[in-house]
Amino acid sequence: MEDKIRKLAEEAREAVAAATTDEQLDAARARFLGRKGKVRELRQSIPDLPEELRPEAGKLINQTGKQLEVLLEQRRQALVGAPDEEQAAEERLDVTLPGRAPRIAGRHPLLATMEDMIDIFLGLGYTVAEGPEVEDYYHAFDALNYPEDHPAMDEQMTFYIEDDVLLRSQTSTVQIRVMAGQQPPVRVIVPGRCFRRDTVDATHCHTFYQLEGLLVDEGITFADLKGTLQAFAEGMFGPEVKVRIRPDFFPFTEPSTEFAVSCVMCGGEGCRVCSQTGWLELGGAGAVDPNVLEMVGYDSETYTGFAFGVGVERFAMLRHGITDIRVFYGGDMRMLRQF
Ligand code: PHE
Repeated sequence: MEDKIRKLAEEAREAVAAATTDEQLDAARARFLGRKGKVRELRQSIPDLPEELRPEAGKLINQTGKQLEVLLEQRRQALVGAPDEEQAAEERLDVTLPGRAPRIAGRHPLLATMEDMIDIFLGLGYTVAEGPEVEDYYHAFDALNYPEDHPAMDEQMTFYIEDDVLLRSQTSTVQIRVMAGQQPPVRVIVPGRCFRRDTVDATHCHTFYQLEGLLVDEGITFADLKGTLQAFAEGMFGPEVKVRIRPDFFPFTEPSTEFAVSCVMCGGEGCRVCSQTGWLELGGAGAVDPNVLEMVGYDSETYTGFAFGVGVERFAMLRHGITDIRVFYGGDMRMLRQF
């Protein structure tokens, strides 16, 4: 009898261990502990034993039944996903791992440069003005004192939409729009997109950005212009930078000047960036031509002023050591991700 019980217990243990679903566990329970199960069957055979062996056999059978009950329950727990050590180790969350940072958009280097320029002039009391990119011939040339077919227009070759409607080739057009709309004092900067019929290369593009400045008031002199350019250059490149102005020509300023700074790469020694000259040309400037002041209805005897214009790309290229203007355009992520 004892052997029989042990064999049954063994058989039951194997059946429980082999069960991988609830259904299989239920079947095992029925097979061993059910109303017609093997444990009960054994119990029913107790009266067949000699009297003195019956109590011991009964005890063993009850024990086996209870153990089986416990085994069944343990197996059930394991199946419904009681913590599995191995699995837990695999899935453990390492809270010391660095998180996955969300990618934060950066400012385009051109826009960032332009905003820094704007900040400097806001600090000097200027306000920001804007004008249309599609301009009429009057604001583009006539009002800026370009005589008809003047060679200075060659620099301003642009894209025409109609005979006298064109994409502006310089932000100077906005000088006219601002002055026509108000009386002096005028103190504005004009950041904006310009267009020229330039062949695209490392330093030219048909679409580019300028920042224009215009100041008109009583008693404004060329010294005010130079001091303003100096403050601007220092704001962009630091206190060491020197400003150089040399005669140039623009129809809307008289006298006119080019605007250069000591090379920010070599400090003026001469290097590849400044073509060994020690200077970097950044734009043009000058005293507002009296003809322009009269054209917008200002009294040129009472008011004087200055204007300047610089290319934003040039500043951004110098600042970041970029040698090809084309990387600014087209939204190449390999470039943009670096900012
Ligand atoms: N608009 C001129 C250019 O694009 C620069 C300039 C601006 C010159 C203002 C004088 C005054 O070349």
